[in-house]
Amino acid sequence: MLEFPKDFFWGAATSAYQVEGNNTNSDWWEWEKRVNLKEVSGSACRHYELYKEDFDLAALLNHNAHRLSIEWSRIEPEEGKFSDQEIKHYRDVILSLKQHNLEAIVTLHHFTNPLWFVKLGGWQNKKAYEYFLRYVEKIVSALCKDVKYWVTINEPMVYVYHAYILGFWPPQEKSFLKANKAKENLLLSHIKSYKLIREIYRKESLNPPLISIAQNVQAFIPCVPTLRNRIAAYLRGKYFNFDFIERLMHAHTLDFIGINYYTRSLVETRGWGLKNLTLDVCNKNHSPLNKNSLGWDIYPQGLYSLLLALKKYGLSIFILENGICTQDDNLRWDFIRGHLKSIHMAMNEGVRITGYIYWSLIDNYEWDKGFSPRFGLIEVDYQTYKRSVRESARQYALVCKTGRLE
Ligand code: BGC
Repeated sequence: MLEFPKDFFWGAATSAYQVEGNNTNSDWWEWEKRVNLKEVSGSACRHYELYKEDFDLAALLNHNAHRLSIEWSRIEPEEGKFSDQEIKHYRDVILSLKQHNLEAIVTLHHFTNPLWFVKLGGWQNKKAYEYFLRYVEKIVSALCKDVKYWVTINEPMVYVYHAYILGFWPPQEKSFLKANKAKENLLLSHIKSYKLIREIYRKESLNPPLISIAQNVQAFIPCVPTLRNRIAAYLRGKYFNFDFIERLMHAHTLDFIGINYYTRSLVETRGWGLKNLTLDVCNKNHSPLNKNSLGWDIYPQGLYSLLLALKKYGLSIFILENGICTQDDNLRWDFIRGHLKSIHMAMNEGVRITGYIYWSLIDNYEWDKGFSPRFGLIEVDYQTYKRSVRESARQYALVCKTGRLE
């Protein structure tokens, strides 16, 4: 029997664009139509209207925390024009969380941008942080009384890779130079937002909030342990997992470390070039591990090693996403249990961990992969929008209630 601390946070996450539906002023909305994406987000899960019902279920499942994001393009649909109605909507959402005794963990940027911002160059524009800050000031001022945990930017490196290096997501660039510029602008946006958010709380005479990012970390493992693969795995860990965190630590702008963990990546380089060292992976598909429905290896040991590696920063760590898409709900529960065991082992080694947030509360729109990957603790029927609680959610609910894992 494993015991978790009494004050541990247990919950699940969503992001605005993936669940709300009809985010018509967002860059992703414009892009999915322009490129004729196989599945467009449309009404998504209709969470914009159904959030209270979704929070009822989270509370019923004994969660005591919930992570969500604010859609910038709703708050500021046109440059400099803020929507009072949408600000009120998110105030209502936060109040509803409070009524459900769910601690709100609020993300300010989760991959999508207002279309007007992108038309001005988006994260390539050297004034990007100024635009972002204006929005941050508006929404944080409106919500500060009821929010303690802020996540400025979700997975900055995943965003940079997909949007500026691999070219899978808008604006579909393939340029290390542009990637680096976007990364620097995201860094600056976090640093400036951190200071601004703290200032807002100070002026309102509120206790200081806790602010971080959600950093995606992966276990980079050399497929065959050649010198080149080992060097590449090391460099990827440094660049992809740790660099952003270290830069923010250096600027004293992290109150805790937020991480998202899903899988490992098998490194198999085909040359010494920059592209080889940073991008080549093994595509032989010969790993014996169980996989999620997108083919990602299930590898809880990786979470354990990464937590130990993060210990040196001396901050507490909040697992802000960890989850599996699968049609096999037994595998979902195995996944959760395996990762909770890794977390417990790391805690026994002295790693301070604040809580565990599963991705996701409900099935949702998995970006360019559409609606088929099923990550939810709760199933969504996209014809009727009916929610059905999965068995894995009930097993997780028991852990949330007792703080114990058998
Ligand atoms: C993202 C989510 C996404 C999930 C599963 C994370 O990288 O924050 O938006 O749905 O992983 O791919």
